[in-house]
Amino acid sequence: MKSQNIVSLIRKKRDRGTLTPDEIRYLIQQYSKDAVPDYQMSAFLMAVFLNGLNDDEAAALTREMLHSGTVLDLSDIPGTKVDKHSTGGVGDKTSLILAPIVAACGVPVPMISGRGLGHSGGTLDKLESIPGFNVNLDLKRYVEVLKKHKLVLIGQTEEIAPADKRMYALRDVTATVESIPLIAGSIMSKKLAEGIDALVLDVKFGNGAFMKTREDALRLAQRLVSIGEEFGKRTIGYLTSMEQPLGNMIGNWLEVYESIECLNGGGPEDLLEVTHLLSGTMIWLGGEAGSVEEGIERSKTAVADGSAMQKLRDIVLEQDGSTEFLDRPDDYPPASHSFDVAAASDGYVTAMDAYAIGMAGVELGAGRKSKEDTIDPAAGIILRKKIGDKVQQGETIVRCFTNKEEQADSVRQMLQDAVTIGSSRPEIPALITDTVTRDGAKPWS
Ligand code: URA
Repeated sequence: MKSQNIVSLIRKKRDRGTLTPDEIRYLIQQYSKDAVPDYQMSAFLMAVFLNGLNDDEAAALTREMLHSGTVLDLSDIPGTKVDKHSTGGVGDKTSLILAPIVAACGVPVPMISGRGLGHSGGTLDKLESIPGFNVNLDLKRYVEVLKKHKLVLIGQTEEIAPADKRMYALRDVTATVESIPLIAGSIMSKKLAEGIDALVLDVKFGNGAFMKTREDALRLAQRLVSIGEEFGKRTIGYLTSMEQPLGNMIGNWLEVYESIECLNGGGPEDLLEVTHLLSGTMIWLGGEAGSVEEGIERSKTAVADGSAMQKLRDIVLEQDGSTEFLDRPDDYPPASHSFDVAAASDGYVTAMDAYAIGMAGVELGAGRKSKEDTIDPAAGIILRKKIGDKVQQGETIVRCFTNKEEQADSVRQMLQDAVTIGSSRPEIPALITDTVTRDGAKPWS
Protein backbone atom coordinates (compact mmCIF):
# COMPACT_ATOMS: atom_id res chain seq x y z
CA MET A 1 0.00 0.00 0.00
CA LYS A 2 1.39 3.38 -1.01
CA SER A 3 2.12 5.60 1.96
CA GLN A 4 -0.12 8.67 2.19
CA ASN A 5 -0.20 11.76 4.27
CA ILE A 6 -3.08 11.51 6.74
CA VAL A 7 -3.22 15.29 7.21
CA SER A 8 -3.74 15.77 3.48
CA LEU A 9 -6.60 13.21 3.48
CA ILE A 10 -8.30 15.06 6.32
CA ARG A 11 -7.73 18.38 4.54
CA LYS A 12 -9.21 17.00 1.31
CA LYS A 13 -12.45 16.00 3.06
CA ARG A 14 -12.46 19.23 5.06
CA ASP A 15 -12.33 21.13 1.74
CA ARG A 16 -15.21 19.04 0.30
CA GLY A 17 -13.00 16.93 -1.93
CA THR A 18 -13.78 13.33 -2.89
CA LEU A 19 -11.55 10.64 -1.43
CA THR A 20 -10.42 7.72 -3.58
CA PRO A 21 -10.97 4.11 -2.45
CA ASP A 22 -7.17 3.85 -1.94
CA GLU A 23 -7.13 6.86 0.34
CA ILE A 24 -9.99 5.48 2.44
CA ARG A 25 -8.31 2.06 2.59
CA TYR A 26 -5.06 3.63 3.74
CA LEU A 27 -6.77 5.66 6.47
CA ILE A 28 -8.77 2.76 7.94
CA GLN A 29 -5.95 0.23 7.66
CA GLN A 30 -3.48 2.57 9.35
CA TYR A 31 -6.05 3.38 12.04
CA SER A 32 -6.60 -0.33 12.65
CA LYS A 33 -2.83 -0.71 13.14
CA ASP A 34 -2.79 2.17 15.62
CA ALA A 35 -0.72 4.19 13.18
CA VAL A 36 -3.37 6.95 13.06
CA PRO A 37 -4.09 8.53 16.45
CA ASP A 38 -7.64 9.08 17.68
CA TYR A 39 -7.30 12.88 17.30
CA GLN A 40 -6.72 12.54 13.56
CA MET A 41 -9.56 10.05 13.18
CA SER A 42 -11.80 12.44 15.15
CA ALA A 43 -10.93 15.27 12.77
CA PHE A 44 -11.69 13.02 9.80
CA LEU A 45 -15.05 11.99 11.29
CA MET A 46 -16.00 15.62 11.84
CA ALA A 47 -15.02 16.47 8.25
CA VAL A 48 -17.30 13.63 7.05
CA PHE A 49 -20.04 14.73 9.42
CA LEU A 50 -19.92 18.25 7.95
CA ASN A 51 -19.30 17.47 4.28
CA GLY A 52 -20.72 13.97 3.77
CA LEU A 53 -19.55 11.12 1.56
CA ASN A 54 -20.75 10.22 -1.92
CA ASP A 55 -22.00 6.68 -2.70
CA ASP A 56 -18.55 5.45 -3.79
CA GLU A 57 -16.83 6.88 -0.73
CA ALA A 58 -19.50 5.40 1.58
CA ALA A 59 -19.10 1.98 -0.04
CA ALA A 60 -15.30 2.20 0.30
CA LEU A 61 -15.56 3.18 3.97
CA THR A 62 -17.96 0.30 4.64
CA ARG A 63 -15.66 -2.15 2.82
CA GLU A 64 -12.64 -1.13 4.88
CA MET A 65 -14.51 -1.27 8.20
CA LEU A 66 -15.93 -4.66 7.19
CA HIS A 67 -12.47 -6.06 6.33
CA SER A 68 -10.94 -4.71 9.53
CA GLY A 69 -12.22 -7.97 11.07
CA THR A 70 -13.58 -11.41 10.25
CA VAL A 71 -16.07 -11.73 7.42
CA LEU A 72 -17.99 -14.93 7.94
CA ASP A 73 -18.44 -17.35 5.08
CA LEU A 74 -21.66 -19.30 5.51
CA SER A 75 -21.69 -20.67 1.97
CA ASP A 76 -21.59 -24.29 3.14
CA ILE A 77 -24.93 -23.80 4.92
CA PRO A 78 -27.71 -24.44 2.39
CA GLY A 79 -30.24 -21.71 1.70
CA THR A 80 -30.26 -17.94 1.34
CA LYS A 81 -29.23 -16.47 4.67
CA VAL A 82 -31.34 -13.43 5.55
CA ASP A 83 -31.20 -11.02 8.49
CA LYS A 84 -33.11 -7.94 9.56
CA HIS A 85 -31.79 -4.73 11.04
CA SER A 86 -33.80 -2.06 12.78
CA THR A 87 -32.37 1.38 13.43
CA GLY A 88 -33.93 1.16 16.89
CA GLY A 89 -36.83 2.47 18.86
CA VAL A 90 -39.02 1.97 21.90
CA GLY A 91 -40.93 -1.29 22.35
CA ASP A 92 -39.44 -2.64 19.11
CA LYS A 93 -39.25 -6.37 19.77
CA THR A 94 -39.81 -7.53 16.19
CA SER A 95 -36.49 -9.46 16.07
CA LEU A 96 -37.63 -11.76 18.89
CA ILE A 97 -40.77 -12.66 16.95
CA LEU A 98 -39.63 -12.72 13.36
CA ALA A 99 -36.34 -14.60 13.82
CA PRO A 100 -38.07 -17.85 14.91
CA ILE A 101 -40.87 -17.33 12.37
CA VAL A 102 -38.49 -16.98 9.42
CA ALA A 103 -36.30 -19.90 10.55
CA ALA A 104 -39.42 -22.05 11.02
CA CYS A 105 -40.28 -21.26 7.38
CA GLY A 106 -36.94 -22.72 6.28
CA VAL A 107 -34.88 -19.55 5.79
CA PRO A 108 -31.60 -19.46 7.79
CA VAL A 109 -31.36 -16.37 10.04
CA PRO A 110 -27.86 -15.53 11.31
CA MET A 111 -28.56 -12.68 13.73
CA ILE A 112 -25.94 -10.59 15.49
CA SER A 113 -27.65 -7.99 17.64
CA GLY A 114 -26.79 -5.09 19.90
CA ARG A 115 -27.60 -3.92 23.39
CA GLY A 116 -29.89 -1.08 24.42
CA LEU A 117 -28.64 2.40 23.62
CA GLY A 118 -30.07 5.32 25.60
CA HIS A 119 -33.86 5.32 25.32
CA SER A 120 -34.01 2.45 22.84
CA GLY A 121 -33.89 -1.21 23.82
CA GLY A 122 -31.57 -3.89 22.45
CA THR A 123 -32.31 -7.49 21.45
CA LEU A 124 -29.41 -8.89 23.51
CA ASP A 125 -30.68 -7.41 26.77
CA LYS A 126 -34.14 -8.78 26.03
CA LEU A 127 -32.81 -12.27 25.27
CA GLU A 128 -30.78 -12.22 28.49
CA SER A 129 -33.96 -11.74 30.49
CA ILE A 130 -34.63 -15.41 29.65
CA PRO A 131 -32.81 -17.26 32.47
CA GLY A 132 -29.54 -18.81 31.27
CA PHE A 133 -29.76 -17.57 27.65
CA ASN A 134 -26.21 -17.24 26.33
CA VAL A 135 -25.64 -14.55 23.69
CA ASN A 136 -21.83 -14.91 23.87
CA LEU A 137 -21.23 -17.82 21.51
CA ASP A 138 -17.95 -17.83 19.62
CA LEU A 139 -18.04 -17.75 15.84
CA LYS A 140 -17.46 -21.52 15.51
CA ARG A 141 -20.47 -22.24 17.68
CA TYR A 142 -22.44 -19.53 15.83
CA VAL A 143 -22.02 -21.48 12.61
CA GLU A 144 -22.86 -24.84 14.29
CA VAL A 145 -26.07 -23.52 15.87
CA LEU A 146 -27.16 -21.87 12.61
CA LYS A 147 -26.58 -25.13 10.74
CA LYS A 148 -28.61 -27.11 13.25
CA HIS A 149 -31.58 -24.76 13.78
CA LYS A 150 -31.45 -22.29 10.85
CA LEU A 151 -31.29 -19.68 13.59
CA VAL A 152 -28.68 -18.23 15.91
CA LEU A 153 -28.92 -15.15 18.12
CA ILE A 154 -25.67 -13.68 19.41
CA GLY A 155 -23.98 -10.39 20.29
CA GLN A 156 -21.17 -8.52 18.62
CA THR A 157 -17.82 -10.29 18.99
CA GLU A 158 -14.37 -8.66 19.00
CA GLU A 159 -13.74 -10.08 15.53
CA ILE A 160 -16.68 -8.35 13.80
CA ALA A 161 -15.80 -4.93 12.28
CA PRO A 162 -13.37 -3.84 15.02
CA ALA A 163 -12.64 -0.54 13.22
CA ASP A 164 -16.32 0.37 13.52
CA LYS A 165 -16.26 -0.41 17.22
CA ARG A 166 -13.41 2.04 17.80
CA MET A 167 -14.80 4.67 15.45
CA TYR A 168 -18.26 4.44 17.02
CA ALA A 169 -16.74 5.03 20.47
CA LEU A 170 -14.98 8.12 19.10
CA ARG A 171 -18.15 9.38 17.38
CA ASP A 172 -20.01 9.04 20.65
CA VAL A 173 -17.69 11.56 22.32
CA THR A 174 -17.06 13.90 19.37
CA ALA A 175 -20.68 14.73 18.43
CA THR A 176 -20.40 12.85 15.12
CA VAL A 177 -22.96 10.07 15.60
CA GLU A 178 -25.83 11.63 13.62
CA SER A 179 -24.26 11.43 10.17
CA ILE A 180 -26.09 9.41 7.52
CA PRO A 181 -22.95 8.03 5.74
CA LEU A 182 -21.27 7.21 9.06
CA ILE A 183 -24.39 5.49 10.45
CA ALA A 184 -24.85 3.60 7.19
CA GLY A 185 -21.21 2.42 7.08
CA SER A 186 -21.33 1.43 10.73
CA ILE A 187 -24.53 -0.62 10.41
CA MET A 188 -23.66 -2.24 7.09
CA SER A 189 -20.07 -3.20 7.98
CA LYS A 190 -21.43 -5.25 10.90
CA LYS A 191 -24.33 -6.78 8.96
CA LEU A 192 -22.18 -7.73 5.95
CA ALA A 193 -19.68 -9.46 8.30
CA GLU A 194 -22.41 -11.88 9.48
CA GLY A 195 -22.25 -13.86 6.26
CA ILE A 196 -25.74 -12.88 5.04
CA ASP A 197 -27.01 -13.10 1.46
CA ALA A 198 -29.88 -10.63 1.87
CA LEU A 199 -31.07 -8.04 4.37
CA VAL A 200 -34.34 -6.39 5.38
CA LEU A 201 -34.10 -2.98 7.03
CA ASP A 202 -36.59 -1.30 9.31
CA VAL A 203 -35.63 2.38 9.31
CA LYS A 204 -37.58 4.19 11.97
CA PHE A 205 -38.50 7.84 12.12
CA GLY A 206 -40.22 10.00 14.70
CA ASN A 207 -39.69 11.22 18.23
CA GLY A 208 -38.52 7.80 19.49
CA ALA A 209 -36.09 7.14 16.61
CA PHE A 210 -32.56 8.18 15.66
CA MET A 211 -33.96 9.89 12.55
CA LYS A 212 -36.58 12.40 13.62
CA THR A 213 -38.10 13.00 10.19
CA ARG A 214 -39.38 10.77 7.40
CA GLU A 215 -37.09 12.64 4.98
CA ASP A 216 -33.93 11.84 6.96
CA ALA A 217 -35.06 8.23 7.41
CA LEU A 218 -35.58 7.98 3.66
CA ARG A 219 -32.08 9.29 3.00
CA LEU A 220 -30.62 6.80 5.48
CA ALA A 221 -32.65 3.92 4.00
CA GLN A 222 -31.48 4.80 0.49
CA ARG A 223 -27.86 4.83 1.65
CA LEU A 224 -28.23 1.49 3.46
CA VAL A 225 -29.90 -0.15 0.46
CA SER A 226 -27.35 1.19 -1.98
CA ILE A 227 -24.44 -0.09 0.15
CA GLY A 228 -26.10 -3.53 0.54
CA GLU A 229 -26.71 -3.82 -3.21
CA GLU A 230 -23.19 -2.58 -3.97
CA PHE A 231 -21.96 -5.61 -1.98
CA GLY A 232 -24.20 -7.95 -3.97
CA LYS A 233 -26.79 -8.51 -1.19
CA ARG A 234 -30.45 -8.03 -1.96
CA THR A 235 -31.49 -5.29 0.46
CA ILE A 236 -35.00 -3.99 1.06
CA GLY A 237 -35.85 -1.20 3.44
CA TYR A 238 -39.10 -0.06 5.03
CA LEU A 239 -39.73 3.21 6.78
CA THR A 240 -41.84 2.76 9.89
CA SER A 241 -43.13 5.23 12.42
CA MET A 242 -41.74 5.62 15.92
CA GLU A 243 -44.11 8.46 16.83
CA GLN A 244 -45.31 6.16 19.60
CA PRO A 245 -43.84 2.92 21.01
CA LEU A 246 -44.40 -0.26 18.99
CA GLY A 247 -46.76 -2.66 20.75
CA ASN A 248 -47.80 -2.13 24.35
CA MET A 249 -44.88 -3.41 26.40
CA ILE A 250 -41.50 -1.78 27.02
CA GLY A 251 -38.75 -3.38 29.09
CA ASN A 252 -36.71 -6.51 28.66
CA TRP A 253 -38.78 -9.38 30.04
CA LEU A 254 -42.01 -7.55 29.20
CA GLU A 255 -40.92 -7.44 25.55
CA VAL A 256 -40.17 -11.16 25.59
CA TYR A 257 -43.60 -11.63 27.19
CA GLU A 258 -45.31 -9.67 24.42
CA SER A 259 -43.30 -11.59 21.80
CA ILE A 260 -44.50 -14.89 23.30
CA GLU A 261 -48.05 -13.55 23.09
CA CYS A 262 -47.52 -12.83 19.38
CA LEU A 263 -45.99 -16.26 18.75
CA ASN A 264 -48.97 -17.84 20.52
CA GLY A 265 -51.42 -16.10 18.19
CA GLY A 266 -52.19 -12.92 20.16
CA GLY A 267 -50.40 -9.59 20.44
CA PRO A 268 -51.16 -6.00 19.44
CA GLU A 269 -52.01 -5.15 15.86
CA ASP A 270 -49.30 -2.56 15.18
CA LEU A 271 -46.56 -4.93 16.32
CA LEU A 272 -48.01 -7.79 14.28
CA GLU A 273 -48.31 -5.64 11.17
CA VAL A 274 -44.66 -4.54 11.20
CA THR A 275 -43.39 -7.98 12.22
CA HIS A 276 -45.23 -9.91 9.50
CA LEU A 277 -44.20 -7.41 6.84
CA LEU A 278 -40.53 -7.78 7.80
CA SER A 279 -40.71 -11.57 8.22
CA GLY A 280 -42.74 -11.96 5.02
CA THR A 281 -40.10 -9.99 3.13
CA MET A 282 -37.34 -12.13 4.64
CA ILE A 283 -39.17 -15.33 3.68
CA TRP A 284 -39.56 -14.03 0.13
CA LEU A 285 -35.90 -12.95 -0.10
CA GLY A 286 -34.95 -16.37 1.29
CA GLY A 287 -36.77 -18.04 -1.62
CA GLU A 288 -39.49 -19.69 0.48
CA ALA A 289 -42.31 -17.56 -0.98
CA GLY A 290 -43.08 -16.20 -4.44
CA SER A 291 -43.91 -12.68 -3.25
CA VAL A 292 -43.87 -10.56 -0.11
CA GLU A 293 -47.64 -11.15 0.24
CA GLU A 294 -47.15 -14.91 0.13
CA GLY A 295 -44.28 -14.51 2.60
CA ILE A 296 -46.64 -12.70 4.98
CA GLU A 297 -49.16 -15.56 4.69
CA ARG A 298 -46.40 -18.11 5.42
CA SER A 299 -45.30 -16.04 8.38
CA LYS A 300 -48.84 -16.03 9.81
CA THR A 301 -49.14 -19.78 9.24
CA ALA A 302 -45.90 -20.42 11.16
CA VAL A 303 -47.51 -18.68 14.11
CA ALA A 304 -50.87 -20.43 13.73
CA ASP A 305 -49.39 -23.94 13.47
CA GLY A 306 -47.06 -23.42 16.45
CA SER A 307 -43.85 -24.02 14.49
CA ALA A 308 -42.46 -20.52 15.19
CA MET A 309 -43.04 -20.85 18.95
CA GLN A 310 -41.40 -24.28 18.88
CA LYS A 311 -38.40 -22.75 17.05
CA LEU A 312 -38.04 -20.18 19.84
CA ARG A 313 -38.08 -22.98 22.44
CA ASP A 314 -35.46 -24.92 20.45
CA ILE A 315 -33.08 -21.99 20.16
CA VAL A 316 -33.47 -21.01 23.82
CA LEU A 317 -32.55 -24.56 24.88
CA GLU A 318 -29.66 -24.73 22.39
CA GLN A 319 -28.24 -21.45 23.72
CA ASP A 320 -28.36 -22.67 27.36
CA GLY A 321 -31.61 -20.93 28.31
CA SER A 322 -34.58 -22.21 30.27
CA THR A 323 -37.95 -22.56 28.57
CA GLU A 324 -39.81 -22.52 31.89
CA PHE A 325 -41.09 -18.97 31.42
CA LEU A 326 -41.72 -19.36 27.70
CA ASP A 327 -44.31 -21.95 28.64
CA ARG A 328 -45.58 -20.13 31.75
CA PRO A 329 -44.76 -16.44 31.19
CA ASP A 330 -47.01 -15.28 34.03
CA ASP A 331 -44.76 -17.09 36.53
CA TYR A 332 -41.76 -14.81 35.78
CA PRO A 333 -40.51 -13.23 39.03
CA PRO A 334 -42.13 -9.78 39.13
CA ALA A 335 -40.52 -6.49 40.08
CA SER A 336 -41.02 -5.60 43.74
CA HIS A 337 -43.09 -2.53 43.00
CA SER A 338 -45.73 -1.50 40.49
CA PHE A 339 -47.74 1.68 40.05
CA ASP A 340 -50.15 3.26 37.58
CA VAL A 341 -50.23 6.57 35.79
CA ALA A 342 -53.76 7.91 35.37
CA ALA A 343 -55.29 10.25 32.80
CA ALA A 344 -55.51 13.81 34.11
CA SER A 345 -58.61 14.59 32.02
CA ASP A 346 -61.27 13.10 29.76
CA GLY A 347 -60.53 12.97 26.03
CA TYR A 348 -58.37 11.10 23.54
CA VAL A 349 -54.69 10.25 23.54
CA THR A 350 -53.45 12.59 20.81
CA ALA A 351 -49.66 12.14 21.07
CA MET A 352 -47.09 9.99 22.85
CA ASP A 353 -43.47 11.00 23.28
CA ALA A 354 -41.80 7.66 22.60
CA TYR A 355 -38.37 9.05 23.51
CA ALA A 356 -39.59 10.17 26.94
CA ILE A 357 -41.37 6.84 27.49
CA GLY A 358 -38.12 5.03 26.64
CA MET A 359 -36.23 7.24 29.10
CA ALA A 360 -38.87 6.56 31.77
CA GLY A 361 -38.15 2.85 31.21
CA VAL A 362 -34.44 3.54 31.75
CA GLU A 363 -35.25 5.29 35.06
CA LEU A 364 -37.26 2.25 36.15
CA GLY A 365 -34.20 0.04 35.53
CA ALA A 366 -34.93 -1.32 32.03
CA GLY A 367 -31.96 0.47 30.40
CA ARG A 368 -28.51 1.83 31.17
CA LYS A 369 -27.45 5.38 31.94
CA SER A 370 -23.78 4.42 31.75
CA LYS A 371 -22.04 1.42 30.20
CA GLU A 372 -21.42 -0.09 33.64
CA ASP A 373 -25.11 -0.08 34.71
CA THR A 374 -26.86 -3.42 35.03
CA ILE A 375 -30.27 -4.06 33.51
CA ASP A 376 -33.25 -5.07 35.61
CA PRO A 377 -35.09 -7.62 33.42
CA ALA A 378 -38.38 -7.20 35.28
CA ALA A 379 -38.52 -3.39 35.04
CA GLY A 380 -40.67 -1.74 32.42
CA ILE A 381 -43.91 -0.22 31.25
CA ILE A 382 -47.23 -1.46 29.88
CA LEU A 383 -49.19 1.02 27.82
CA ARG A 384 -52.90 0.62 28.42
CA LYS A 385 -53.72 3.32 25.85
CA LYS A 386 -52.21 4.35 22.53
CA ILE A 387 -52.76 7.28 20.18
CA GLY A 388 -56.44 7.55 19.21
CA ASP A 389 -57.79 5.76 22.31
CA LYS A 390 -60.53 7.39 24.36
CA VAL A 391 -59.74 7.98 28.05
CA GLN A 392 -61.58 9.08 31.14
CA GLN A 393 -60.08 11.15 33.90
CA GLY A 394 -58.49 8.84 36.50
CA GLU A 395 -58.33 5.85 34.14
CA THR A 396 -55.00 4.03 33.95
CA ILE A 397 -53.02 4.94 30.85
CA VAL A 398 -49.69 3.39 31.79
CA ARG A 399 -48.62 0.71 34.30
CA CYS A 400 -45.02 0.62 35.57
CA PHE A 401 -42.88 -2.10 37.15
CA THR A 402 -39.64 -1.43 39.02
CA ASN A 403 -37.35 -2.50 41.81
CA LYS A 404 -36.46 1.16 42.36
CA GLU A 405 -39.45 2.35 44.34
CA GLU A 406 -37.76 5.71 44.91
CA GLN A 407 -38.13 6.49 41.17
CA ALA A 408 -41.92 6.24 41.20
CA ASP A 409 -42.81 9.92 41.65
CA SER A 410 -40.41 11.28 39.03
CA VAL A 411 -41.29 8.55 36.50
CA ARG A 412 -45.02 9.12 37.05
CA GLN A 413 -44.47 12.80 36.19
CA MET A 414 -42.34 11.94 33.14
CA LEU A 415 -45.06 9.66 31.81
CA GLN A 416 -47.86 12.09 32.55
CA ASP A 417 -45.93 14.64 30.47
CA ALA A 418 -45.18 12.09 27.73
CA VAL A 419 -48.84 11.32 26.99
CA THR A 420 -50.91 14.17 25.57
CA ILE A 421 -54.69 14.11 26.03
CA GLY A 422 -56.83 16.30 23.77
CA SER A 423 -60.51 16.83 23.30
CA SER A 424 -60.93 15.49 19.77
CA ARG A 425 -60.02 12.16 18.19
CA PRO A 426 -56.65 12.56 16.41
CA GLU A 427 -55.51 11.08 13.15
CA ILE A 428 -53.48 7.95 13.88
CA PRO A 429 -49.93 8.27 12.44
CA ALA A 430 -49.30 5.93 9.50
CA LEU A 431 -47.23 2.97 10.70
CA ILE A 432 -45.48 1.92 7.49
CA THR A 433 -44.85 4.77 5.07
CA ASP A 434 -42.31 3.84 2.39
CA THR A 435 -40.42 0.99 0.82
CA VAL A 436 -36.90 1.37 -0.56
CA THR A 437 -35.32 -1.05 -3.00
CA ARG A 438 -32.53 -0.92 -5.56
CA ASP A 439 -35.19 0.42 -7.98
CA GLY A 440 -35.91 3.44 -5.77
CA ALA A 441 -38.30 4.56 -3.04
CA LYS A 442 -42.09 4.24 -3.14
CA PRO A 443 -44.77 5.31 -0.69
CA TRP A 444 -46.18 2.22 1.05
CA SER A 445 -49.79 1.42 0.40
N1 URA B 1 -26.18 1.84 15.05
C1 URA B 1 -24.94 1.50 14.63
O1 URA B 1 -24.58 0.33 14.63
N2 URA B 1 -24.11 2.47 14.20
C2 URA B 1 -24.47 3.76 14.18
O2 URA B 1 -23.67 4.59 13.76
C3 URA B 1 -25.75 4.12 14.63
C4 URA B 1 -26.60 3.13 15.05
